[in-house]
Amino acid sequence: MSTYADNYLANLGPDDADITSHDAYIDGVPHATFARLRAEDPIHWTEEADGTGFWSILKYHDALAVSRDVATFTSEKGIRLEDMDEEEAAARKTMMEMDPPEHTRYRRLVNKGFTRRTVETFEEPIRQLAAEVVEKALQTDEFDFVHDIAEELPMRMLGRLLGTSDEHGRQLVDWGDALLGNTDPEFTDFPVDLVDTDEFRMVPFRSPASIEIFRFAQEQASDRRACPKDDIISQLLEPAVDGVPLTDLEFNNFFTLLVAAGNDTTRYTMTHGVWNMMNHPELWHTLRARPELMDKAVEEVLRTSSVTMHFRRTATADIEMRGKQIKAGDKVAMWFNSANHDEDGFDNPFRFDMDRERNDHMAFGRNGPHLCLGAWLARMEVRLVFEELMKRIDHLEPNGEIDHLRSNFIAGIKRMPVKVVA
Ligand code: HEM
Repeated sequence: MSTYADNYLANLGPDDADITSHDAYIDGVPHATFARLRAEDPIHWTEEADGTGFWSILKYHDALAVSRDVATFTSEKGIRLEDMDEEEAAARKTMMEMDPPEHTRYRRLVNKGFTRRTVETFEEPIRQLAAEVVEKALQTDEFDFVHDIAEELPMRMLGRLLGTSDEHGRQLVDWGDALLGNTDPEFTDFPVDLVDTDEFRMVPFRSPASIEIFRFAQEQASDRRACPKDDIISQLLEPAVDGVPLTDLEFNNFFTLLVAAGNDTTRYTMTHGVWNMMNHPELWHTLRARPELMDKAVEEVLRTSSVTMHFRRTATADIEMRGKQIKAGDKVAMWFNSANHDEDGFDNPFRFDMDRERNDHMAFGRNGPHLCLGAWLARMEVRLVFEELMKRIDHLEPNGEIDHLRSNFIAGIKRMPVKVVA
């Protein structure tokens, strides 16, 4: 009989954390606070010291409703909590900050390369990459899982998608870290809430890394114009949006979005997955005994890790939810990490359950046009790393403390020392 972890987290954190504070996440997600809010005040208003305040949507079915209703909850004013004026929003706009039908036209530019069917045709080359990465890491018995495995595979995959050469891989990782880690002093000299970043307010993530990425994106664009390849950069340069090519700014922002979205999210998801399994070794054994559970295990890794913790929308009209009056213009954050642990969305949500019949989690968003573009690719990368690891070793054990990212946006593990049990 399986003995799946009844509570996959040993520690749910404090129940009185300030969920807006990036510091509240440096010991891990304060799940107890989210659980309390779900029970006491599921549509919760937070005043911001340096912002307009925002609503938190904490329950699964409410988050689904917001995600689906793109007319009432627009993405156009921004998808993170930060307030932007119109000039900033226009300069930093990507398809993430568009509503249909504009969004649909831009998404069509790249959608084909990321469908389930297309991604499945890449399985063998991705497996090969995963095998190489895992073999290299296993040359020693003790290593940092994040640096040696979880960072490597998404980095190499992103390089292949973009068609950039391997020598740029490290740079893509550092840029991705600087963007999604723009609140962590380890990843940037300009953490947005700690120093003045006003001079970077017109570029993505208010990050100086975006300026370097723009320069690199333009170099890559001129290479592809001279010599098109079968890659995403070449696709983006085709005049596909109503026959009109993207402007340089649109292209740069698109490129930056892929660098930000395609690296750290997958890295942190596989790291959380291995962390949970290391703390509950029976999970390795169950998976080994029943390899047919692998796809479900990956979904459970995605749900329990919920690396992208929230996405914001802005109300376009007054609307009442659970008795709360949301006004037109209010910021509304869907907390995917909370929705994915909602007792009304999932039985026993703190149980890591590879036998879950339904697992319609929101790790990639859900039911809306913005459902993660890279979802099938990310799923495959996570699965292949697990499969390639389990072919070669019995399991991994913790070998020291882990470090969390300082961020209320991304649930990241920056370091995870592991020991191999052959
Ligand atoms: C496990 C890894 C990943 C997670 C947890 C994740 C999560 C998300 C989430 C929550 C959204 C927003 C959904 C919404 O607003 O409803 C999103 C959007 C997006 N993701 Fe991912 N993502 C991951 C991997 C990737 C990868 C590998 C890529 C690309 C190579 C990618 C590219 C994108 C893009 C371009 C969007 C914007 C889509 C749109 O606006 O239409 N993601 N992702």
